[in-house]
Amino acid sequence: MRLWNPVARAFSYWQRHGVAATLHRAWLGLGRAVGGNGLVLFSCDLAMLPARKNGPTDGLEFERKTREAELNSRDREQIVNFWNPDVTGRQITERFGKEASLWLARADGQLAGYGWTLVGDTMEPHYVSLGREDVHLFDFLVFPDFRRRGINPTLVIHILEQLAGEGRKRAFIEAAEWNRAQLSSLRRTPFQKLGWARKGGLLGRERVVWAGQEL
Ligand SMILES: CC(C)(COP(=O)(O)OP(=O)(O)OC[C@H]1O[C@@H](n2cnc3c(N)ncnc32)[C@H](O)[C@@H]1OP(=O)(O)O)[C@@H](O)C(=O)NCCC(=O)NCCS
Repeated sequence: MRLWNPVARAFSYWQRHGVAATLHRAWLGLGRAVGGNGLVLFSCDLAMLPARKNGPTDGLEFERKTREAELNSRDREQIVNFWNPDVTGRQITERFGKEASLWLARADGQLAGYGWTLVGDTMEPHYVSLGREDVHLFDFLVFPDFRRRGINPTLVIHILEQLAGEGRKRAFIEAAEWNRAQLSSLRRTPFQKLGWARKGGLLGRERVVWAGQEL
């Protein structure tokens, strides 16, 4: 069943995650609608990555998947069932098809969160043109039971270290300006704020405003 209808989508989400999580999600959606689609853009010079002060959090392990076949069915199911199985399943195939990597974080053996990276390109048009050795980090998620334990920043730092070890040059990530959780999380990583951007259509023309100036 295709769940494009927002009511059906909300109902499906409520069935899987309960009332509190659905209300939280609705609140975030409202914030997005009111706050607009502004993004805070971050970058990191991987050659200048500071040495890590602490080791990885106890009980936390990371895995990188570079092909869809490497993703076991249990992990795949947990990921696609979190929101819209149709959309997320299709995204997984498209992303691996473009040679993106999926990074998994496990806490005490359980899948706690994930994030994606793509080298030299972005899945959708971006505000910055990436060089061949630049990397875009996107679509990070920590499952609700594991949030606020620093798993997201630890995963991001792990990814940056791995990318630096591969000789990649710069990393980019963005967060919606309404997404306080992600903005707070990224402050605990080596990412530095690059600017602010907003994209939108006006009379059929796509307009991009970058750090207050139209591009
Ligand atoms: C953004 C996200 C990945 C952060 O993951 P995390 O591992 O919880 O990150 P942190 O432990 O660094 O926590 C970051 C902030 O999340 C917020 N937060 C997370 N869980 C929360 C909860 N249950 N209640 C209230 N605030 C919460 C807090 O503001 C926290 O910052 P603080 O500790 O300074 O108050 C996670 O909240 C998430 O998956 N959100 C939904 C998907 C998303 O927005 N992804 C990012 C855009 S791609």
